[in-house]
Amino acid sequence: MSSANAENNNEMVVTPWEVKGKVDYDRLIREFGTQPLNPELLARLEKHTGKLHLQIERRIFFSHRDLDTVLSLYEQGTKFVLYTGRGPSGPVHIGHLVPWIFTRHLQEKFKTRLYFQITDDEKFLIDDESTLAETSKWSYENALDLIAVGFKPKDTFIIYDTKDIDLLYDITLEVAKRITYSTARSSFGFQDSTNIGWVYWPAIQAAPCFIHKKLTGENVPALIPAAIDQDPYWRVTRDIAQKLGYCKPAQIHCRFLPGLGAGGKMSASMPETSIFTTDLPNVVKKKIWNAFTGGRGTAAEQRKLGADPTVCSIFQYYFFLFEEDSTKLEERQRKCCAGEMLCGECKIDIVAQLNKFLEGHRERREKAKDIIEEYHVKR
Ligand code: TRP
Repeated sequence: MSSANAENNNEMVVTPWEVKGKVDYDRLIREFGTQPLNPELLARLEKHTGKLHLQIERRIFFSHRDLDTVLSLYEQGTKFVLYTGRGPSGPVHIGHLVPWIFTRHLQEKFKTRLYFQITDDEKFLIDDESTLAETSKWSYENALDLIAVGFKPKDTFIIYDTKDIDLLYDITLEVAKRITYSTARSSFGFQDSTNIGWVYWPAIQAAPCFIHKKLTGENVPALIPAAIDQDPYWRVTRDIAQKLGYCKPAQIHCRFLPGLGAGGKMSASMPETSIFTTDLPNVVKKKIWNAFTGGRGTAAEQRKLGADPTVCSIFQYYFFLFEEDSTKLEERQRKCCAGEMLCGECKIDIVAQLNKFLEGHRERREKAKDIIEEYHVKR
């Protein structure tokens, strides 16, 4: 596995298939060899987007490769395309929505196309238990969530791997031919017991980086907004892009939304600590009520000593999604530390906000059922 891999159980592991331990994002920047988002680059971004998006301002998106190059080309009149995706292993939770919301923002500001890959094949290959019927069911369900974020069919192209493999196949062959087994093994940690489908598979995640040229004739870079665990794919793809006559794909990387437990990212495999988009109000309430916070043993103690928002999962939801006003966020933090606001009050607020948000999302998700075909990539 990658160099950010674990020696023991508490240590950080960040690979495309596993994220555990306390994630040290500065260390990932060093080990993956990416660039932090610096003020100069942000000032440039701001010229195009107007006020910086909350996820940039708070460094939820914190690192990149070649964002500067993509902006330079854009300033000279060459547009980029956006590319991101989803492995349909189960229902979408609010952590998945974080980079999608940001992608939507970029699409709106830069008026670019989005290619969105749904990797039912990947999830089938890496999970011994899964079936293709199951992963394609989740492909459909997850696409509804993507559409509910607000993407428009005119410039959003969903690629369902098993349905659209004919479109990707020649590109995956070009890619696969130029990546050696030794490079793939050291980037992805393959072992003797790894099935051979999985070994080929990275070529399929690389292909949408280059699909725009095939569809339109335009050779422009792809900018990929995604969580940093996907970075190994982009490293191998960037190495071979120019040899194949394409631009290197650029990335902008985000953090993981923590789960509702003590530490760890939100993960669909731990449903009790994840808020799914389809969770009904009473389920949301129950999950939040059981969530880990930075509170004290008793209310009296907390009033006296204050609590610790830095370890609190609820505070993170305000930070990532639900308190857009930074002054109000600071005020919440201050009251928490001072013992002026107890966890119950904070939880009541977040339940109300979450349920309001999810209600709107579910309405849009229902409507998406009628228009989902309009998003399917056209040849
Ligand atoms: N491998 C990703 C996952 O398991 C899915 C994916 C495919 C993706 N292409 C992508 C994610 C591009 C981000 C960007 O979720």
